[in-house]
Amino acid sequence: MVPFRCALSILASLICSVSAAAAPSGNSANLAKRDNGLPARVPYVFPPPGTNAIADAIRAQKNGTLLDLDGVTLNAPLFAQASNGLVSVIRRNNTIPPAMRELIILRVVTLNSASYMWLQHEPVTREVGLTTEQLRAIRLAPPFFASKGVNLTSTLGHDLEAAMIFTDWITLNVHVPDDVFDAMRPILNDEQLVEGSMTAAEYNSGSRWIVTMNVDGMMDVPVPIPS
Ligand SMILES: *[C@@H]1O[C@H](CO)[C@@H](O)[C@H](O)[C@H]1NC(C)=O
Ligand SMILES: *[C@@H]1O[C@H](CO)[C@@H](O)[C@H](O)[C@H]1NC(C)=O
Ligand SMILES: *[C@@H]1O[C@H](CO)[C@@H](O)[C@H](O)[C@H]1NC(C)=O
Repeated sequence: MVPFRCALSILASLICSVSAAAAPSGNSANLAKRDNGLPARVPYVFPPPGTNAIADAIRAQKNGTLLDLDGVTLNAPLFAQASNGLVSVIRRNNTIPPAMRELIILRVVTLNSASYMWLQHEPVTREVGLTTEQLRAIRLAPPFFASKGVNLTSTLGHDLEAAMIFTDWITLNVHVPDDVFDAMRPILNDEQLVEGSMTAAEYNSGSRWIVTMNVDGMMDVPVPIPS
């Protein structure tokens, strides 16, 4: 990643060699592997540690490493801060089950062909317990699968299947019919209905700007099929 990114320009090379040297090892190495550092539609901005409070706060939340998506948002630092704040709350302070949270996210990014986000989230989704078979269902089930006779109850279980149907409607139709919403009521309380809706909505937002800005050069790359 570093040689790629550093090749972009002399300035970038200065910045990234500083941040590479300052980044802690371990977890940050895993995070770094998620990026190829290929050009986006704007230059990446990676302020060296100690030079930009917003970048430092984002880095601290990501175990010392800024990702290519941060390099794009840091062109507009207040947007970087706000977007990162919501994403962090979704990740760390959500009360919906982690498996449901990640299923919602991966289904949104599948429907929006946001391959970069899929690559960021697939490892997290496996960590929270989803199987390869379940990931393949998220990736391969057609839009509005439930109304096309595709029954995923035995693969996903009742609750995750309902959450995936809910996510399809939010993402593809915006207007969610009562029967689809009401199917979530026995599964999520009021707080969680807001959290689940906002998780889907935020990743719809994120996938749109990530594809638009061609983060990591991935806007035309198909979402991988898990194996
Ligand atoms: C940072 O590291 C902690 C502890 O290893 C881990 O729980 C957390 O998920 C990591 N954060 C990210 C964004 O990878
Ligand atoms: C959000 O979650 C993080 C990580 O679990 C925790 O440190 C923080 O206190 C939580 N924030 C609130 C306001 O509960
Ligand atoms: C889907 O399959 C399950 C069994 O796995 C069954 O109980 C359920 O009624 C089926 N759902 C529909 C809508 O046919």
